Amino acid sequence: MCQSVEMKAIEWLDDRLRLIDQTTLPSGLASIECRAPEDVAEAIVNMRVRGAPAIGIAAGYGMALAAARSGAKDVPDLMRDLNAAAQMLRRTRPTAVQLFWATDEALKAAREAADVIDATRRVLDAAHRLRERERRANLALARHGAELIPIVANILTHCNTGELATAGYGTALGIVRTAHAQGKRIHVWVDETRPALQGARLAAWELLKEGIPHTVIVDSAAASLMRRGKVDVVVVGADRIAANGDTANKVGTYGLAVIARAHGVPFYVAAPTSTIDPRLPNGDAIPIEERSPDEIRRIGNMRIAPDGSPALNLAFDVTPHDLISAIVTELGVIRSPYDHRLTSMVRDALQAV
Ligand code: MRU
Repeated sequence: MCQSVEMKAIEWLDDRLRLIDQTTLPSGLASIECRAPEDVAEAIVNMRVRGAPAIGIAAGYGMALAAARSGAKDVPDLMRDLNAAAQMLRRTRPTAVQLFWATDEALKAAREAADVIDATRRVLDAAHRLRERERRANLALARHGAELIPIVANILTHCNTGELATAGYGTALGIVRTAHAQGKRIHVWVDETRPALQGARLAAWELLKEGIPHTVIVDSAAASLMRRGKVDVVVVGADRIAANGDTANKVGTYGLAVIARAHGVPFYVAAPTSTIDPRLPNGDAIPIEERSPDEIRRIGNMRIAPDGSPALNLAFDVTPHDLISAIVTELGVIRSPYDHRLTSMVRDALQAV
């Protein structure tokens, strides 16, 4: 069901989940309602909800829907249904680590329950908690990151990392919003972000709404803008950060980091600690999602490459840690070497929950 809504990327409505359908922006603002975990999985696969933190939060509520709809009479029966839902949700998009966090948290919450009613309540509470935790993390990391932004700055960003991607304040775009609110004179270069155009469609939409000066560019314009001294800082988000600081983010991020280094432009990654995966020693271990070649060969219904031509649609790439000037989380700004500090940040963040 579609309808016009106020800006709320993800909203729990007693017995169902309402999501802004990000595929319709910027042409129209519409929502979908998910009543079953399968609906949430469909929304994640088809990028109606996207952005690592938002995917995680949606998955958490997907687990709540699975619990509420289960006809289980006891906790072991319910666990079978929840495990099946978790497996389905985890298969949707393998790179964003929050997806795994959220489903794990739900399973843990249910396992500790006395009975099915208690378990159902605990799974929903876990989803609410995750959402609130991410919201607070966004605000804190935006404050830390804004300190890295000069008083007058041209900031380049990639993909969309704002309210839509986080169901909160935003990560890289949260830093932009805070710097702007602090009165800094900023202008944002928005990479259009082929092939799904999250920059042109979604980041530009959010910046326009916030009244933040910006210009949309094709992805390949970034290098010449840097060469002409038109970029002071690059700030991007992350889908998963390995223990050594290697960072998976929207495809094209690695190229930006290389050209930023070549032109002496600082390159910052902004992400909540929930994005850090301390189990993975480096970026080689991060699973990279491969999506349909048709997302490259077509824009909407228009064919822009022959159907017969193979196309490789890797949704993410990995930026090696040595190209990252700093990683900004809710716990502060850290610089290389990342290894121990990232792992201890995750520990500190978990203790604070
Ligand atoms: O494929 P997407 O649109 O889900 O990719 C999103 C990104 O790469 C974002 O930069 C990342 O998830 C961080 S969002 C705060």
